[in-house]
Amino acid sequence: MKPSSITLTNNLSFLRNIEDKSVNLIYIDPPFNTGMKQSMTSLKTVRDENGDRTGFGGNRYRTERGDSRSYLDSFDDYMGFLAPRIEEAKRVLAADGSLFLHVDQRESHYCKVLLDQVLGRDSFMNEIIWSYDYGGRSKRKWPAKHDTIFWYAIDPENYTFNADAIDRIPYMAPSLVGKEKAARGKVPTDVWWQTIVPTNGKERTGYPTQKPLAILERIVKVHSNPGELVMDFFAGSGTTGVAAAKNNRRFMLADANPDAVQVAVKRLVEYEPECVGFTPEGLIV
Ligand SMILES: C[S@@+](CC[C@H](N)C(=O)[O-])C[C@H]1O[C@@H](n2cnc3c(N)ncnc32)[C@H](O)[C@@H]1O
Repeated sequence: MKPSSITLTNNLSFLRNIEDKSVNLIYIDPPFNTGMKQSMTSLKTVRDENGDRTGFGGNRYRTERGDSRSYLDSFDDYMGFLAPRIEEAKRVLAADGSLFLHVDQRESHYCKVLLDQVLGRDSFMNEIIWSYDYGGRSKRKWPAKHDTIFWYAIDPENYTFNADAIDRIPYMAPSLVGKEKAARGKVPTDVWWQTIVPTNGKERTGYPTQKPLAILERIVKVHSNPGELVMDFFAGSGTTGVAAAKNNRRFMLADANPDAVQVAVKRLVEYEPECVGFTPEGLIV
């Protein structure tokens, strides 16, 4: 069995070298075509007698800027960019495999049409809304606080859906359902309430647009089985790989940005010591 891996590469050439029907689950979170450069500079708080503020124990602290990571998120022809990659995703997915595409409201309607065209309307299973609550609120329109995750099954009659593996969530009005049900919680709907990766939490890698592990773990546990192969060819900080490794799935990741591969390898070896990283020359990083 091949070890789990991450490859520094353009994902189209990467996909063209993958065997037909060899992958059980694909999750992708491509750049959203925001028209901007996505950047994040990590910040850390350091103790400094001359710091600009007083914190824990009356000590003085200041904020220090760390590494900066970024990637370009602007496409003249976004569908032209995505279409061949979705076609390859369809080819490499197993007969009972599933594709998850994560986008936001800027392009989601065009993406749904593209997915219907490539995978077939019958393969559409769910439009999952990830709803979060973070950042500023516009006073001129409803603040946009959700992303869209489309789920398509290659065969809508035969796909993996491990209902027993779904994590339960609290009832909104527990007093209305009785003690036992309230204690067990309820199964989430297609609207997933989940906070963004906390800005200073342990999960945060400093890679821009990192997605919460809780979202990826839910997808991996419910839509694949232990030992199966999970792929993410817009891997970023490697969140899909972490979700796979934590749940005994193998993973195959790719990203064109050296910063992403560096961040992901550092993160992944903690969960999957056998994980290998490839550069275009085939070198293991
Ligand atoms: C939104 S980020 C993914 C974030 C990831 N889900 C996470 O949790 O960290 C999109 C990624 O796609 C990568 N990317 C963009 N175009 C690519 C291409 N043609 N081939 C491979 N990776 C690409 C970018 O470098 C970026 O890391």
